[in-house]
Amino acid sequence: MDANTVDFISSSPSQTLRFGARIGELLRPGDLVCLHGDLGTGKTTLVQGIARGWGSSRAARSPTFLLVHEYKRADGMVLFHLDAFRLRNGEFPGLEVEDALGNGAIVVEWPDRLEGILPDDRLKVEIWWIDETRRNVRIESKGARSEEILRAFRKLAFGS
Ligand SMILES: Nc1ncnc2c1ncn2[C@@H]1O[C@H](COP(=O)(O)OP(=O)(O)OP(=O)(O)O)[C@@H](O)[C@H]1O
Ligand SMILES: [Mg+2]
Repeated sequence: MDANTVDFISSSPSQTLRFGARIGELLRPGDLVCLHGDLGTGKTTLVQGIARGWGSSRAARSPTFLLVHEYKRADGMVLFHLDAFRLRNGEFPGLEVEDALGNGAIVVEWPDRLEGILPDDRLKVEIWWIDETRRNVRIESKGARSEEILRAFRKLAFGS
């Protein structure tokens, strides 16, 4: 596996939460995480872990758009959780990506719907169903900042 990829198996929902928390504690305002995977593979479960690591596990529905959940932590920074599944036209009504990244980090489910408005430098997470309780997770970095996050994640999660 090359330096820009980490591949592992999560054996339970709680393990996925813990991996998510490792990611969440490394995120800073301006960071983007894109989640790919079929329905029910565990994207939202991972986001719940990311929010915990980010420092806020209580989601508020966005005042402007119902497909956005906002996790605001003590310093005022927000983790924006976008579910783009129902979108088609390459935009996210009620959310300016630039503004959001100025105020926090973004995690997107079904990012393919939004290509064109999302920055290239992102952590690309893919999740595959193995069986009832196991998922294959692959995380790839797509730029300098995401590479830095991935390196730190590898150290935190696997000690290497
Ligand atoms: N190892 C695992 N990691 C994550 N979830 C798991 C795992 N094993 C079983 N599950 C179950 O799989 C389901 C994942 O649901 P979740 O809502 O997180 O998926 P999703 O990818 O967000 O789906 P959707 O595409 O519908 O938004 C949950 O019911 C969870 O308990
Ligand atoms: Mg989901």
